[in-house]
Amino acid sequence: MKIFEKQSDLSSFLKSVSKTQTSIGFVPTMGALHEGHLSLLRESMTQNTYTVMSIFVNPTQFNNPEDLEKYPRTLDSDVAKIKTVSQDIIVYAPTVDDIYQGQTQSEHFDFDGLEAQMEGQFRPGHYDGVGTVVKKLFEIVNPNKAYFGEKDFQQLQIIKKMVEKLKIPVEIIGCPIFRESNGLAMSSRNQRLNDEQKKQAAVIYKILKTARSKFKNNSAHAVHQWVVSSFEKIPEMKLEYFQIADESRLLPCIRKSKNKKYRAFIAVFIAQIRLIDTVALY
Ligand code: PAF
Repeated sequence: MKIFEKQSDLSSFLKSVSKTQTSIGFVPTMGALHEGHLSLLRESMTQNTYTVMSIFVNPTQFNNPEDLEKYPRTLDSDVAKIKTVSQDIIVYAPTVDDIYQGQTQSEHFDFDGLEAQMEGQFRPGHYDGVGTVVKKLFEIVNPNKAYFGEKDFQQLQIIKKMVEKLKIPVEIIGCPIFRESNGLAMSSRNQRLNDEQKKQAAVIYKILKTARSKFKNNSAHAVHQWVVSSFEKIPEMKLEYFQIADESRLLPCIRKSKNKKYRAFIAVFIAQIRLIDTVALY
């Protein structure tokens, strides 16, 4: 398996293998891989000649220094997991300097307001950091297709918007959320939960599923009230936000419209660990 630390080495390797009939699939990650990430790799492997996975904990997308410090970094076990999918996957695991060349700063983006909602409200600058690193990674890898999980649905919409606005020639493919058997959405942050917290965290998806059925006959406001009061009864957890929004613009649903596809979004803290999840409401 090929593992590159330097963008110059990766770029020259990719140039040497790229021919007109070649397609490159790209799976950007921050490591601490789980089955959800591996499913993105499998999807890419079936659709492309080469698959590149990046593993890079991007400092510019963390607004909380403790979150950045505690983010799991598990390169050896990540590589072992990638090998279970295929030995042919190309890994790019750069240093901060290799990506940022001494300028560890975000570019400022206008994502037509998508960045102002939910994660954008509670994690100021987060999507500027995501946009900055993903744009740089696209320049290095030059993929035909790139794969993102739907767990961060807002991120997926923002990357699609960035590609459209900057005319980056890559197809963005959203892939379904992978869940533990108790319903907890797979996330690298789950590695920081103890067994008890993992059990407790299953309630997030349970509440989302009930919210989905309540939304059929109730307003978004009523469902929101019900979710807030449900979390008030769980002292181990703190609800940061619950929002029902339309999928394309991510604006909160005030009055239901038949022409819009709605989705519920949630962020919850268990101790200091922040978890997000989402379900489609159609
Ligand atoms: O979703 C993630 O893991 C990250 O936000 C990404 C897209 C790899 C950018 O750092």
